[in-house]
Amino acid sequence: MERTAVHVSRDEMERQERLISEIRDLPQRPESYHVVTYGCQMNAHDSEKIAGMLEQMGMHPAPTREDADFVIFNTCCVRENAERRALGNVTWLKEVRKTHPHMVIAVCGCMIQEPGMAEKILKQYKFIDLAFGTANLHQFPELLLNTLNRRDGLVQVTDEDVIAEGLPIRRLRQDAAYLTIMYGCDNFCSFCIVPYVRGRERSREVSDILREAEGLMQSGVQEIMLLGQNVNSYGKGLADPVSFAELLRRLDEMGIPRIRFMTSHPKDLSDELIDVMAGSQHILPQFHLPVQSGNDEILKRMNRHYTREQYLDRVRKLRSAVPGIGLSTDIIVSFPGETEEQFRDTLSLVEEVRYDSAFTFIYSPRTGTRAAAMEGQVPEAVSKERIQRLIALQESLQQDTLRRFVGTEEEVLIEGLSRRSGQAISGKGRHAVSVTMPGSDADIGKIVRCRITEVKNNTLMAERLDEA
Ligand code: SAH
Ligand code: SF4
Ligand code: F3S
Repeated sequence: MERTAVHVSRDEMERQERLISEIRDLPQRPESYHVVTYGCQMNAHDSEKIAGMLEQMGMHPAPTREDADFVIFNTCCVRENAERRALGNVTWLKEVRKTHPHMVIAVCGCMIQEPGMAEKILKQYKFIDLAFGTANLHQFPELLLNTLNRRDGLVQVTDEDVIAEGLPIRRLRQDAAYLTIMYGCDNFCSFCIVPYVRGRERSREVSDILREAEGLMQSGVQEIMLLGQNVNSYGKGLADPVSFAELLRRLDEMGIPRIRFMTSHPKDLSDELIDVMAGSQHILPQFHLPVQSGNDEILKRMNRHYTREQYLDRVRKLRSAVPGIGLSTDIIVSFPGETEEQFRDTLSLVEEVRYDSAFTFIYSPRTGTRAAAMEGQVPEAVSKERIQRLIALQESLQQDTLRRFVGTEEEVLIEGLSRRSGQAISGKGRHAVSVTMPGSDADIGKIVRCRITEVKNNTLMAERLDEA
């Protein structure tokens, strides 16, 4: 099925802006809001857009959801537990509303795009005032205005592949910012629901991306994280196609101190991209490269379009072009039909690559995906045992892998006070590994130079090299 991206017109965006003003002038509009976010960086960034619109409506953030007049849940459905958690929390708000009858409750995000979910919400969760899908985000002012006027449960979902430019954004961090370069995904990995809930892959125009990056740089942002489900295939379908490597080269030239990106698909990781990274000033020496499995047969049934050997070839190229590069990955255990032997191929791959970190998941069947209908779903007890073995292996290797940093200098963008001690600060180094060092509140948002002294509980400890 051919589908093309729909750019929301300037007129339509202006109409929504006028509705924002209309809400601001309503005598009895909600005064405070709380956004609860589940899922990945895409969702976190969508939540920043929702907050941006709410602030323009004159609302201020409430510290907890119980204190807010307007509560919105931005949901994820990539695994069953993500979905269960979101629905559980929404249901709990039903109780809260008994004592806060004026509270307005909305649910949005990927879960709402699931087939049948909108109807289910209407029927089973009558206390929800508004539900809308990922492609309806730019219509939020209109939807909220209708909700406030009617309060009888409004659901809006479309499966159009929209690109909406110019939404206001209230960024959670001033020092580091998300920048979406593409929406949706065309890969249809057989386990994954994302293409069904986020639509077809579509890229933003280069000029829009560069303009946003320029604005961020002017406002003093130190680090930009480029977002897309598969950033390596950026640029397809543009009137003037541009590769991801070329886009990175142009961003690198702008002089933003740090550039990162997520997520890369191994099948689209080009030599051109590796070359650009090797020659760049500002692209950080790190790479998140989800492998999912170390077994060729499983990779094939996952529809990943690469073999173990091809993946390892990419890893070798990255390591030789960018020495010391930080590598991280995502792994699924117990894909349907996975045998003990096939699982051991994943263990041996982890041993071979030596990741700085790995996100590990038990396969979760998602209705509508191809894998959900496959034979040989693995029993829970086996899955739990496998994931524990995988985590134990990764942890034991990680300690050793991180030791390569001891004695080296790092530059760390300080995110906050360390959770372990009030006298310490922590943040991410250029290799995306967490680093902890002495410091205070005043360092948050700054890039601090330090020397790594030891590895402790899989974190790097450092001494400062600046005069703090
Ligand atoms: N676009 C990204 C991220 C997608 S979701 C990518 O291609 O890597 C993030 C991770 O969730 C995936 O990498 C995968 O490891 C995991 N995941 C996706 N669907 C899953 C499922 N049905 N069960 C378990 N893990 C899943
Ligand atoms: Fe899902 Fe695969 Fe697309 Fe990632 S690349 S979002 S895992 S379908
Ligand atoms: Fe979840 Fe949607 Fe992201 S399903 S992982 S929030 S794209």
